Amino acid sequence: MYREDFNVLKNVVYLDNAATTLKPKILSQKVSDYYNNYSANASRGDYKIALLVDNEILNTRNKIKDFINASSSDEIIFTSNATDSLNKIVFGYFRYNLKDNDEVLITKAEHASNILPWFELSNEININVNYIPLNENYEITLDNVKKSITKNTKVISLAYISNVVGDIRPIKEIIEYAHKLGIKVVVDGAQAVAHMKIDVIDTDIDFLAFSAHKMCGPTGLGILYGKKELLNNLYPTCFGGGMNASFTFDRITKYKSLPSKLEAGTLPIASIIGFGSVIDYLNNIGMDNIYNYEKELRNYAIDRLSEIENIEIYNTNSKSGIITFNYKDIFPQDLAIYLDKYNICVRAGNHCAKLLKDELKIKNTCRVSLYFYNTKEDIDALVKALKNSNIKNELL
Ligand code: ALA
Repeated sequence: MYREDFNVLKNVVYLDNAATTLKPKILSQKVSDYYNNYSANASRGDYKIALLVDNEILNTRNKIKDFINASSSDEIIFTSNATDSLNKIVFGYFRYNLKDNDEVLITKAEHASNILPWFELSNEININVNYIPLNENYEITLDNVKKSITKNTKVISLAYISNVVGDIRPIKEIIEYAHKLGIKVVVDGAQAVAHMKIDVIDTDIDFLAFSAHKMCGPTGLGILYGKKELLNNLYPTCFGGGMNASFTFDRITKYKSLPSKLEAGTLPIASIIGFGSVIDYLNNIGMDNIYNYEKELRNYAIDRLSEIENIEIYNTNSKSGIITFNYKDIFPQDLAIYLDKYNICVRAGNHCAKLLKDELKIKNTCRVSLYFYNTKEDIDALVKALKNSNIKNELL
């Protein structure tokens, strides 16, 4: 689908979409239009091109609000990336809303960005970070969540789709259960928002973090969604221009209301404006179409990869476009470099999920991650390269 919108696809078989997706031409066109024709700052100017910028930023904020079905555009905060969003949630909200011996539940399959902020917070205030066990497929189940909750649990923080196992977590059910016990749920949406329809009202998500660059958008832009009453109690972690209403010589400060209080400094204006066009682009394709197409392609990929004797797939049961595997007796990085000889891009390593090795019993893997512009021909090219009987001699 839509391959002609992505120049990069003329040169490579791109199967590393969980790291970052490719960008459709519309993004650079929109960004270039801003830089060439009206590149003023935002929220500061009273002249026409500055007001045009303000309007474009508001448009993008509203489009994101609609995209995830938030109640208000004030609930959409621009950050640098999903990591930045998660850090703001942990250090701006939970630092002030957790107390001694409170417990945060995560899993060992989380990305570093949903682990390290909690570790750091636990060094600062006396909270505990514990792990919900994964099942035999390295997935999280509602039952295991229920069993892990204690009277001290105050937060559950999970990826919607994990970036190595690729399981789509039962987030709605987990939240429903957690909320009955007064537990807040933070969702790392980095691998999900681009691939399926996310509805923050229907799922009742408290906080959601995601990155534009993993959904055809620009780098350097992330989104922090939070319910308004929570964001109103999220203290800024960054201070300066744009976020203050007033300050005096004797340090009396007053900060603006949402969303400005959480957006200090000049925003990544070009990226925000470009992202607005990308949201239109994704809406035009349809998130349900993207989800269904990826599912079909994933099934095809699993079937084809299963033909290869030397391949061990670690997440056959997962439902997302993430497929994690190893080739017997070949170091994953060597395999990735070998595939690159055939212009096939996959990621190898621990994928920033460094605790998962305790569960997988293996440190590094190769990962294929699909998006709507991938095709069965891409999978065939991968399988052909992996079936090469001379593969070990071609490694170096
Ligand atoms: N978090 C990104 C990945 O999984 C970078 O590749």
